[in-house]
Amino acid sequence: MQDSVTFDAKTAMEAYRTAFEQGCSEFLKRYPETELYAPVRYLMALGGKRLRPVLVMAACEASGGRPEEALPAALAVELFHNFTLMHDDIMDDAPLRRGMPTVHEKWNDNTAVLSGDALHVMACEALLDAPDKALPDLLRTFHRTALEVCEGQEQDMAFESRRDVTIEEYMEMIRLKTSVLLAAALDMGGKSGGADDQTREALYEFGLHVGLAFQLQDDYLDAFGNPENFGKQVGGDILADKKTFLLIRAMEKAHGADFDGLCRELGQRSEGKVERVLALYRHLGVDAELRDAMAGQVALAEGALARLKSHNPNALKGSDSALALLHGVAAMVTARLS
Ligand code: IPE
Ligand code: IPE
Ligand code: MG
Ligand code: MG
Ligand code: MG
Repeated sequence: MQDSVTFDAKTAMEAYRTAFEQGCSEFLKRYPETELYAPVRYLMALGGKRLRPVLVMAACEASGGRPEEALPAALAVELFHNFTLMHDDIMDDAPLRRGMPTVHEKWNDNTAVLSGDALHVMACEALLDAPDKALPDLLRTFHRTALEVCEGQEQDMAFESRRDVTIEEYMEMIRLKTSVLLAAALDMGGKSGGADDQTREALYEFGLHVGLAFQLQDDYLDAFGNPENFGKQVGGDILADKKTFLLIRAMEKAHGADFDGLCRELGQRSEGKVERVLALYRHLGVDAELRDAMAGQVALAEGALARLKSHNPNALKGSDSALALLHGVAAMVTARLS
């Protein structure tokens, strides 16, 4: 059963991606082939999973709308996401993105700042093509979400130099920097497809939990992922002392020599740091704890959709493939199948 759900979800995902790519290349033609837009075209062409626009389109169709009605919102969230990546890679001093040099490495920091700013404005312009009736609501959600992502990114950076960050603080930070955008993607897709408020709220809550699972998995892969296919520098979070679930729980669980060893690693980047910290994570069992936390979020996500269905059996009666995608996406995200 699980396999067939995942299979249907993957097929639906491919179809949405194809529609999105088409709309995206049309949209980018509006902008001149000048230096300002070269990094935008570079990053957008590197692709990525396109998870957020797929969620917009699936939520729209699941709500009874047509996929093309969701395109302005899908473009807005994916362009905004790519803008955050361009700036995030400067902030995280990251050399690689989607298996290629980051924009600030290929060009320089100033270029990445300015082209990132342009990308943010392009995201806003894309959304202006949404139907007039839905637009004020979509803009409100979109801008509120953009500010929340900034708030999350501020916390992420501030936590680097703190040693007392709690799991509760971490969960709030990843809700802001990552989850709210997935949640907004679903909510905006629902709005584009004419979903009622109760359905949109359930889609938003579903997206928050999928997003928390997604960022937990991102933290896991940053530590334990395969450098051959991760597309980013493995161990980057450890080098930067990012307060991930893994590091916070390791600091809480470690005693004696383990605790002293972990503390010695913080604030420096000596040879072998990543390997030593990874060995401690495994020894302390925080990798298994992360997997449990992720499974908990997947269950909460599924619960949000199930509750909606029990309160309102007529909600989300759109296309079967859109529904298959919503039901399969949490499993896909945690397996990072794409
Ligand atoms: C990366 O997002 C940033 C996070 C929130 C973890 P994705 O993993 O969705 O990146 P792409 O778009 O697929 O490259
Ligand atoms: C990024 O979190 C969240 C945003 C870009 C807003 P990360 O810093 O963990 O994302 P990656 O790992 O660089 O993709
Ligand atoms: Mg970051
Ligand atoms: Mg980063
Ligand atoms: Mg990461």
